[in-house]
This record gives sequence, C-alpha cells and structure tokens, in this order.
Amino acid sequence: MTSILSGREVARAIRKEVKQQVMLLEKPPTLAIILVGEDEASQIYVKMKHRACRKVGINAKEYRFPVNTHQDTLVAKIRELNQNPEITGIIVQLPLPSTISTFTVIESVSPLKDIDGLHPLNQGRLLSGGFLVPCTPLAVVRILDFYEIPIAGKHAVIINRTRLVGRPLTQLLLNKDATVTICHSKTQNLSEITRQADILVSAVGRRPKFTITGDMIKDGATIIDVGLSRLDGKVVGDVDSGSVEGRASHLTPVPRGVGPVTVATVLQNVLTAMKLQRG
Ligand SMILES: NC(=O)c1ccc[n+]([C@@H]2O[C@H](COP(=O)([O-])OP(=O)(O)OC[C@H]3O[C@@H](n4cnc5c(N)ncnc54)[C@H](OP(=O)(O)O)[C@@H]3O)[C@@H](O)[C@H]2O)c1
Repeated sequence: MTSILSGREVARAIRKEVKQQVMLLEKPPTLAIILVGEDEASQIYVKMKHRACRKVGINAKEYRFPVNTHQDTLVAKIRELNQNPEITGIIVQLPLPSTISTFTVIESVSPLKDIDGLHPLNQGRLLSGGFLVPCTPLAVVRILDFYEIPIAGKHAVIINRTRLVGRPLTQLLLNKDATVTICHSKTQNLSEITRQADILVSAVGRRPKFTITGDMIKDGATIIDVGLSRLDGKVVGDVDSGSVEGRASHLTPVPRGVGPVTVATVLQNVLTAMKLQRG
C-alpha cells in the first residue's frame, strides 16, 4: 500500500518550531509582502502567507501596487524596505506584470532579507551549503526528513529545472548525498529515467498533458508531487494517484502536500533571515 505523506502535518510541526522561537524573542520579526496587480492566484497566496504569519506571531505587512506601477517605483520601495531595521524579510509575490523585469526586482532585494531565496547571491551560495533557500525545494527536503525517508545514496530524479524549484532542489539533495538527475521538457526517454528513481520529484504542472503514471515509476519509489494544475475545476498534481497506488511506497497528495509546507518554510526563512542579519 502507498503511504500518503501529509504536508499539513509537516507544516504544523514547522509552525510549532517557529512559534516557539518567536515567543523567545523580545520583538517579533516582520515580513513585508509586495503584491503588484490583481492576479487572483497571487492574492490567494498572499492571504495564505498572512494567515501563516499570524499563527506563529510574525508580523506581516502588505505593500500593494497597481498593475501599471513603474519598475523604478517598485525598486525604490524595496530599497527603502532593505534599509528599514523594522523589516526582517521581503517577499515579492510572483509573477510580476510583463512590463517589469523580474530579475531586476529580485536583484534589488537585500540578500539578507530575501525570503524566497531567489537573489543571485543566495542561489550561488547554495553551491556551498546554503543561506536563504527557496521555499518549495526546502519544503521537499523537510517532508523527506519529517517522514525519515533516506536520501543519502539514493537516486533522486527531479522533473523541473527552474531557479524556483529544480535547480535549488538539486543542490539540496546533492548536499544530502543523493545521486541527482534533473529532467526537463527536452529530456528524451523520460520514463526510462523516472523508472530508476528512488525519490521522484515532479514539478511540471501541465496535467492532463503531463501525467506521472504507475508504469513510469520504480516499485517502492517515494513520489513528491509539486505540480499544480486545474483539471475539471479541481486542483491536481502531476501524479495520477490511482495509477501509482500500491507501486509507490510514499506519495504526497495534492492538495495538502507540498503546498502547506512551502508556506510554512516561508516562516522558517523569516527566522533564518533574522539570524543572518544579527550575524
Ligand atoms: N506546491 C507548491 O507549493 C508549489 C510551489 C511552486 C511551484 N509549484 C508548481 O510546480 C510547478 C512548476 O513550477 P515552476 O514555476 O517551476 O513552473 P515552470 O516555470 O512552468 O517550469 C516547469 C518545468 O517543467 C518542465 N517541463 C515542462 N513540460 C515537461 C515535459 N513534458 N516533460 C518534462 N519536463 C517538462 C519544464 O522544462 P523546460 O525548463 O525545458 O521548460 C520546466 O523545467 C507548477 O505547476 C507550479 O504551480 C507548486
């Protein structure tokens, strides 16, 4: 039988850990969340981050900008927040409108306040162990650790090569002594590779066109489903859970898998940022 890895449970454990640490502080940390435009999904994600902060006693301040905001206005606000000692961390909710360069905006966030771990300095530092690490890859590792799934010496296959998910996750798993293969849209014979995975992380998000089925996995594999798509009005992952049932040893569900853990790792990163700023 395939065991379902509840992300909610992992998220609860992370929030408990963070709350305990926040209670010991003289003053709670503050997270600045920047939202540009009215994107519906972004507004939901911002609300989730707010709620998560409230649960653990972290202050969250929202800075909203209209969709036609000039990039320089946004960068000026970020620079001001970088200098503000009351602000512990900064998140710029992505995606940004196409008139704004995401790279320029990300680069303007102080690496010490970069909760999403997307600043080039933080991405580079991952090569030598990590500093502020992107939340979704961190969530994947937290799930594996929480359920005591061995990583060292295992073959991990990641389907995704983005700076947000696949690349940082490759480093995190390498740092934990996995043998890592990274796949993407140009990978040939994908199933041959996925069938070799002890740990398979899928982050494509194109269902029904892209689906992980039972014949694509090794017996006893652990499957971490990061992908999110809408299918018949429902949110689904990359994996056809019915088809991998009994073959996979562990599977994260969608929803209630990687998603809640990603939000919880935002809180973890706020504390990491605070510690880094204190040296
Ligand atoms: N649960 C969470 O907390 C959470 C957090 C972040 C993201 N997500 C979800 O994770 C997914 C990925 O996010 P993202 O921002 O990295 O998305 P993205 O920029 O669209 O990247 C998708 C990745 O999948 C690869 N890919 C696309 N089609 C493929 C195929 N047929 N075979 C193999 N690989 C293929 C792409 O390869 P190329 O590089 O060659 O294009 C790319 O590396 C999305 O569904 C997103 O919603 C979930």
